[in-house]
Amino acid sequence: MEHPSTDPSASADIRLLGRLLGEVIREQAGPETLDLVEAVRRAATGERRGTSAAGQLVPLLGDVADAWILPLVRAFSYFSLLANVAEDVAANRAARLSRRKEGEAAGPGTLRHAFAHLDDGSRSRAEVAAVAASVTVTPVLTAHPTEVRRRTALDRTRAIARLLEERDRGGMDDIDAVEWEEALRVEILALWQTAILRPSRLRVRDEINQALHYFDASLFAEIPKLQADYERAVAEVTAGEVAAVEPVVRMGSWIGGDRDGNPFVTAEVLAYATERQASAAFAHHLAALRRLAIELSMSGHLVRATPAVEALADSSGDTSPFRSNEPYRRAMNGCYARLAASALAALGTIPEAEPRARLEPYGSPAELVADLRSVEASLALHGAGALARARVAPVRRSVEVFGFHLTSMDLRQNSDVHEVVIAELLARAGETQAYLDLDEPARVALLTAELTRARPLVSPFVTYSEQATGELAILAEAAGAVRRLGQPAVATYVISKAESVSDVLEVAVLCKEVGLCVPASDGAGLRLGPSIVPLFETIDDLANAGATIEALLGLPLWRDAVLAAGGCQEVMVGYSDSNKDGGYLASNWALHRAEMDLVAVTRAAGVRLRIFHGRGGAVGRGGGPAYDAIVAQPPGSVQGSLRITEQGEVIAAQYSDPPHARRGLEALVSAALDATAADPDALGADRARFHQVASDLAARSMIEYRSLVYETPGFVEWFRTATPVREIAELNIGSRPASRKPSERVEDLRAIPWVFSWSQSRLMVPGWYGAGTALSEFLAGGPERLEELQAMQARWGFWRSVLSNMAMVLAKTDLAIAARYSALVPDPSLREAVWSRLRAEHQRSVTALLSIYGGDDLLFDSPDLAQGLRNRIPYLDPLNHLQVELLRRWRAGDRSRVVEKGIQLTLNGLATGLRNSG
Ligand code: PGA
Repeated sequence: MEHPSTDPSASADIRLLGRLLGEVIREQAGPETLDLVEAVRRAATGERRGTSAAGQLVPLLGDVADAWILPLVRAFSYFSLLANVAEDVAANRAARLSRRKEGEAAGPGTLRHAFAHLDDGSRSRAEVAAVAASVTVTPVLTAHPTEVRRRTALDRTRAIARLLEERDRGGMDDIDAVEWEEALRVEILALWQTAILRPSRLRVRDEINQALHYFDASLFAEIPKLQADYERAVAEVTAGEVAAVEPVVRMGSWIGGDRDGNPFVTAEVLAYATERQASAAFAHHLAALRRLAIELSMSGHLVRATPAVEALADSSGDTSPFRSNEPYRRAMNGCYARLAASALAALGTIPEAEPRARLEPYGSPAELVADLRSVEASLALHGAGALARARVAPVRRSVEVFGFHLTSMDLRQNSDVHEVVIAELLARAGETQAYLDLDEPARVALLTAELTRARPLVSPFVTYSEQATGELAILAEAAGAVRRLGQPAVATYVISKAESVSDVLEVAVLCKEVGLCVPASDGAGLRLGPSIVPLFETIDDLANAGATIEALLGLPLWRDAVLAAGGCQEVMVGYSDSNKDGGYLASNWALHRAEMDLVAVTRAAGVRLRIFHGRGGAVGRGGGPAYDAIVAQPPGSVQGSLRITEQGEVIAAQYSDPPHARRGLEALVSAALDATAADPDALGADRARFHQVASDLAARSMIEYRSLVYETPGFVEWFRTATPVREIAELNIGSRPASRKPSERVEDLRAIPWVFSWSQSRLMVPGWYGAGTALSEFLAGGPERLEELQAMQARWGFWRSVLSNMAMVLAKTDLAIAARYSALVPDPSLREAVWSRLRAEHQRSVTALLSIYGGDDLLFDSPDLAQGLRNRIPYLDPLNHLQVELLRRWRAGDRSRVVEKGIQLTLNGLATGLRNSG
């Protein structure tokens, strides 16, 4: 069934941008190039739409001469990139229009909808207030290498988007329209002459600076605005009963602190990251105060400021006779001087203009917030409340949200590393029994004892291994950042591949060595500095997560420390590695199950739970619509707060412009509200049965998945020859290496290149493999089984979201293209053995899903995506066919530059066009 176009103007813009790109290609690369591009485009579109005979595209591209390859790849990369831009602009436009439509009910993912639901009459005002006050959402920016686009390309596409938006605002006459089209053409020309690929690998410093860009692009403006809207909504539903609302969004970052498998993250890099971030925060606040010192020009002859503001003015050191009767301006200059002094103390420099006076630094952001509140209160008293709300409150909220540190930096390292470092420290401190030989109870006993001793393990008289020295140096640097900028500067330490209590205690002991944690002694308990967060990421570790946390909280030392630090135990769950381990259904169920267990054990221990979701953009790494994912969490697992990683290409998609950022952040906050307020017993009597079915399907799916990936002889060779996994490692898209260890095993390959490779070959195995077997075996058990699966689909948000994401992936897979990749495998029997299983499983998955959906359309509930795919797929097909051709030539020994560069360009173009690929 053809869907009607959901947004005709997106299609019109795609045609317009395509025409302009065509004109640029003709002018820059010659008419023959454009003719070839057009011939390929016609063949690709015709084959997709069924309007021309199949089978023309492959010979057209297979015979292509070297000279045409790079222009062709670049042309199709840009066609799909421009189609994305047009779609994004259309999405913003649609959101704007729907907001403007009078009376239209606000949809899920908006504050209006979430507050209407919260205040639906079923809760007392106190309950409403408690839920509303509990919300904090932390999107954590990470440098996971899945963003293929250079900053330059992002800037150019942003400029094109801005032009389209300008046109949308209206008011263009004919002459403007001509100039406007010319401006678009110029941007596309600049894009055409800009290199798509980075000439060298990114450094962590570059990644740090790239992330900072998003604060100026959207976050500085949008987070305080969203906070204001949230506070207004809370005031309405609680009739003003909740006086102060904590920031509902705080950003976090891993960039410069995540050293799991990234040897380039060192103490110096961590110092650079925390300083650059703090400098951005200080510069932002200082500039805002300077603006206020101009704008708040109320005269003491006309209005009367409060004594608090007069006192601020008097202590400001601002002696200018021109401002002698302008208390607010003098007060603001005083705040500026104090904040500048804080910057100087923390950073050794002032990232804005010198202050007019040297004053004492602020001891904390809260002191500046208090001054700004006095100013707001004073303005309100003489009838300038509107000015306080419009000008001063946003600055105050910005200080509340970003503090002096901008965003909390998480540290992350692998549990294996902590273990060997602890073993070394203990051995060098004279411990006679080797730590690595101890069993878990003995380790826990030893580490617990260590956490009650003031004595350090590290001695200045000992030389440690390079690894231990590096780890201790990072921790010491983190302790320094906390001293300079406060605990929020380094608030979390994440332990990858955590599986036991000792994994957590090891980190506490390491933190103690540098003063980040304070040991229990003299009757005082252990004082945790950063929150220490185990990351469970294999199917087994997720299955044991509840028991591990139960045992951890069973240690009085630990539970007391958690309670003293605010009573919240954070736990991180990893979507990608569990998927690589057990396949799509098993991973999703293991995550859900683990969260239910964690809810139960933390509740029993009287501790609040916060879950940190380590998810990427691709469905095989936990991607998919964030709102749906959050509201689909098990009851009790979102108790107001949650953290979630924002990675790679998702960051640019989400935070490049204010409207997207606003929508994304509002959706996260609304989802946290909806999930917290959800009925814990929504599934009622069906719950146990649904869980039983999900668990059964997960187990069947995992057997099939593991049998293919880990038990099929030669599977690794198939994967390495039928996908571009080797070539992906050469893309200069991130600072960290592609594998943790130099090995060919799937276990040692990082999840990103694993998922990335499957996306490029359009098979997307991590998004569905195993589900077909599980569902078809289950359905074969009797006719009532289909009804059961349909009931789950209708009534259980978690299950609906799992299936809907899988449907989205299956709609993007393309067996005809994937078959061409499979043909690259040299050994015919291996080729056929793996391919026939993939094909059959794909068929089973589609058939089962369609029978649950009761139709013939996988994307029946996502018309926008369906339309987007129809727009983009014809541009992606030629890139796939060219990639296959180039891989064939490369593997046959053609080492020419065209082939090498062509492969890299197709990888880039496909990742850009597919959007969530890594
Ligand atoms: P990691 O991330 O390899 O850094 O743990 C996994 C992923 O997000 O794919």
